Amino acid sequence: MKDQVLRWHVYADPSELLAEAEAVVKQAATEAVERRGRFDLVLAGGSTPRGLYERLAVAGAGGLGWHIWFGDERCLGANDPERNETMARQAWLDQSGIPAGQIHGIPPIRDTEAAAATYSALLAGLGDFDLVLLGIGEDGHTASLFPGDETGQTVASTDALPVFDAPKPPPQRVSLSADRLSRSRQVIVLATGRGKSDAITRWRRGDDLPIGRITPRSGIDVFADREAVPG
Ligand code: 6PG
Repeated sequence: MKDQVLRWHVYADPSELLAEAEAVVKQAATEAVERRGRFDLVLAGGSTPRGLYERLAVAGAGGLGWHIWFGDERCLGANDPERNETMARQAWLDQSGIPAGQIHGIPPIRDTEAAAATYSALLAGLGDFDLVLLGIGEDGHTASLFPGDETGQTVASTDALPVFDAPKPPPQRVSLSADRLSRSRQVIVLATGRGKSDAITRWRRGDDLPIGRITPRSGIDVFADREAVPG
């Protein structure tokens, strides 16, 4: 397994953390658009990322060169409130200036394998992402890569994997593979609250968790609040 490089940033509370994450997204976007004419951003699901999207909406972030991707999705019908895309649209995307055709959702179909295959095909021509946002679950999962499941750590793996038995509902999901999530110029993990502290302890001591399998060349910046980081 490739080594994982982690940089820890611990904030007094979630709002300080989200302010910093907002600044990082805006900075990464400015640099990417200046250098390459586009900004490829991967969104996470979950409550902590939602707070970031709400801040980005207030800040009026998002513009013509932005392309939005999803690290994982729950296999439910279009606009289902439990879908990560629905959450991100309501919190931010629908009021951003990002062109509709540049919001690349995972297909809202219940056929998990077909959704994963379609998304892999869509990603096939794309190089490295600019910024991947990830959350972490209480069991050490990230995106929809759960402990004990195939996490797709090698380049031979498909970019998007079907997930059939996720312990966090709903069971059917699509997740980008660990290898695809690692192919990014920057990766940030957002972790807030006491509920994350066991997973973080296990991650830091090197237990084999899905979050430990994300290995971007430039390392990972972990933005955590004090409650999430024991000691
Ligand atoms: C999902 C996620 C998942 C999430 C973590 C953290 O679809 O559920 O993408 O990986 O990011 O479980 O979620 P919370 O911030 O809500 O704890």
